[in-house]
Amino acid sequence: MSDDFQHSETCGLDCKAEGMALVKRLMLLYDGYVDMFRNGDGVLEPMMQLKRVHTSFVVKNAELIANGEGFDALERETALAAALLHDTGRYEQLRRYNTFRDSDSVDHAVLSHDIVKERGWLDEVGASRPDAVLAAVLYHNRRDLPDGLDHIMRLASDTVRDADKLDIFRVLEDQVSHTDWRSDSCAFWNLAVSAPPTPIVVASIENRRPVDYQDIQSLADFVLIQVGWMISGLVFATSRRICMERGHLAYRRNFLHQLTDSPSVDRICELAERSL
Ligand SMILES: [Fe+2]
Repeated sequence: MSDDFQHSETCGLDCKAEGMALVKRLMLLYDGYVDMFRNGDGVLEPMMQLKRVHTSFVVKNAELIANGEGFDALERETALAAALLHDTGRYEQLRRYNTFRDSDSVDHAVLSHDIVKERGWLDEVGASRPDAVLAAVLYHNRRDLPDGLDHIMRLASDTVRDADKLDIFRVLEDQVSHTDWRSDSCAFWNLAVSAPPTPIVVASIENRRPVDYQDIQSLADFVLIQVGWMISGLVFATSRRICMERGHLAYRRNFLHQLTDSPSVDRICELAERSL
């Protein structure tokens, strides 16, 4: 995906909407920071470029959620700022550790939070609720949000988490269509391609309990977890509608049938269909 596309995406925000000028200024600061990771020819290495593109899509998804849910100006500004900044630490994580795997390196949400705070971008643009933006960045990858968040913190956090999941759906489909996943075990982190779903993973999803990521053994588990998000992981009705409209459930059902003939696939997909 070209930089041109990325810029038309990010600048495609409705800047006339109240509060959007602030997000656009934040975007200039963010892109100035990302520029530090470009090589002498101005090129960002592919893995970093994927993260920059992901960020643009997450911002766009957050904007769709804000529109669909009728956010006011403060809610919109805070949620979109958090969407833009949620993965700020990914570039530094890759530079330092050469991996995006948090368990082998650093919690990228903590790193993102620390970089955003240290750079002072939110004060520079005069964000109304910098604390809420930082909270949403910090908590975006937690299994559960902590208690005690106020309305704006929770709304921004829920928006980033939904917007992120919606783009992770796109990323999986992109990965399937651009890799030789049947024979290239690295396409999906060496997960067993034709192994059936793991019973404990299936049980957690069916009981709407969070899956312990250490239990994932097969590619089917990984895909079923995403179907599980459609059952109990998307907070906003707008997110569920977007997910349905984009055909992410139908795609996964079809893909899962290529991986396994386990009856749990249809059971879980039907549960998701009723939840979306
Ligand atoms: Fe993230």
